[in-house]
Amino acid sequence: MTTTAGPSSPSVRNSELDANAPTGSVPPRSVGLPADALDTAVTAFMTASPVTRRWDVERDFDWAAADADRLTDGQRSAVRFISFIEDHLPGYFAVYGSRFPLDADVDVETFLLNREIYHFTVRWAAEEDSHARALFRYQVESGIATAESLRRELAVEGRKEFSLPHDHPAALFAYTLVQEKATQIYYQNLRAVVGDPVLADVLNRLSRDEARHFTFMADMVELYLRTYGDAVVEPMRDAIAQFRMPLADTLGGYWRWALRIADTARYDHTEAYEHLVRVARRAVDAPSERVDELERFVRAARAIPA
Ligand SMILES: [Fe+2]
Ligand SMILES: [Fe+2]
Repeated sequence: MTTTAGPSSPSVRNSELDANAPTGSVPPRSVGLPADALDTAVTAFMTASPVTRRWDVERDFDWAAADADRLTDGQRSAVRFISFIEDHLPGYFAVYGSRFPLDADVDVETFLLNREIYHFTVRWAAEEDSHARALFRYQVESGIATAESLRRELAVEGRKEFSLPHDHPAALFAYTLVQEKATQIYYQNLRAVVGDPVLADVLNRLSRDEARHFTFMADMVELYLRTYGDAVVEPMRDAIAQFRMPLADTLGGYWRWALRIADTARYDHTEAYEHLVRVARRAVDAPSERVDELERFVRAARAIPA
């Protein structure tokens, strides 16, 4: 996996930066945004989930009532699928650690910027880990799986490496923006059809968290556009061009399974692309050929059936 981001990336060259934007490209191994702006985005994220509004796996669900007999086969299969996706958190978290290192190999300036994003990453990771735990608990309490076999199944997939092809940090955040939005929409759609109210409660909590994660990613994408100009639209477009949902390349039977979960509840990750275009439009006030091109690209991607 690539661990550097920045000037060597073929996606962004100084000569391509907007004339009105700062001309510096993103320094290698750095999140590359001003510390104050990162602080503001992280604070907004934390403010949206005060301790009084958080939930926990142990307290907030009626586990004794969980009953997989109220689910169709397709719904059970969807729960198993999303459990694998959520449970892969160690792999996702490691990407941030390697892209934005916090050790003696980076200079003080890079460290202090990466330290800001880390405040977000650890909270986000704690939330995603609770998603994995809630789905695990649901599977066990409802009778879909036994703890022992599920733990082992998850471990078999969990140890596989997760990697992203993008060099530029703006592409990483654009990728995650799409992923969080796609997941949020799917959980909402699945929640609307599942027969077990306990599972509906779980999906409700999860989709609300994904919505907040999306908002943070949108703030980050906006910051890159405001800091570097519309030149960063290119790596974002790359993120869409190469988009694969997590585990698409490692989870056994992924594609057949993905089609099956889409039969159970509407699932279309390209729906989330539109949200990226909207964020780009909002951040770039002036007419921009690059944003127009991103929009055309997304429209074309959506028009072509998978
Ligand atoms: Fe999640
Ligand atoms: Fe999320």
